[in-house]
Amino acid sequence: MFNRIYATLVSSRRSAYGTLMLVLACIVAFACSPTAENEAPVSPTPEATVIIVRSGQQIFTSTCAACHGLSGEGQPNWHIRKADGTLPPPPLNGEGHTWHHGDGFLYKVVRDGGKWMESPSLPHFKSGMPAFGEQLSHDEIVGVITYVKSLWGDKTGRGMSIREWQAEVSLNDPLPPGP
Ligand code: HEC
Repeated sequence: MFNRIYATLVSSRRSAYGTLMLVLACIVAFACSPTAENEAPVSPTPEATVIIVRSGQQIFTSTCAACHGLSGEGQPNWHIRKADGTLPPPPLNGEGHTWHHGDGFLYKVVRDGGKWMESPSLPHFKSGMPAFGEQLSHDEIVGVITYVKSLWGDKTGRGMSIREWQAEVSLNDPLPPGP
């Protein structure tokens, strides 16, 4: 952009006026540039991501695998409601529909359990997903969600990488800020 402004100004009139306009354009462009406050959040470094995934894996193995399976494969017939009205634990490994949901939704399911999805408008839905908000810290919930997403590998759905799809959905449904 600067090059174009500069080229226009310099070629049209090589004068002090042109230089003044260039300086003003630079000041306006600088003033309108994003400040530290509205820049995109910084992603963790690759090393930090490895640590988050590793601790997420420990939590998953000890806390979630009994229901969702050691590799997040879920229970057979996970989409068929049981006699008590609950669903068997679904796969979290990218085979089910976990990737349709944004980070904010996944966080809420783990923190508050499936209870918050029960509503009068869904009279037949009864959740079998416990709440872990008392047991897991904010960072641990983020860690276990990051681990779950690492199970998706290069799987594709709806014509694109499911990780990319879920990242797009998460732009409008991000993780809540930490405490
Ligand atoms: C007692 C069994 C049980 C345990 C333990 C459990 N879940 Fe679940 N989970 C379920 C069931 C059943 C569902 C299906 C939705 C419902 O019933 O609310 C579910 C749904 C979910 C979903 C939504 C999946 C989707 O595709 O929409 C996520 C994410 C999830 N669980 C993550 C976890 C994590 C992470 C842990 C461990 C911290 C965990 N669950 C532990 C039973 C369990």
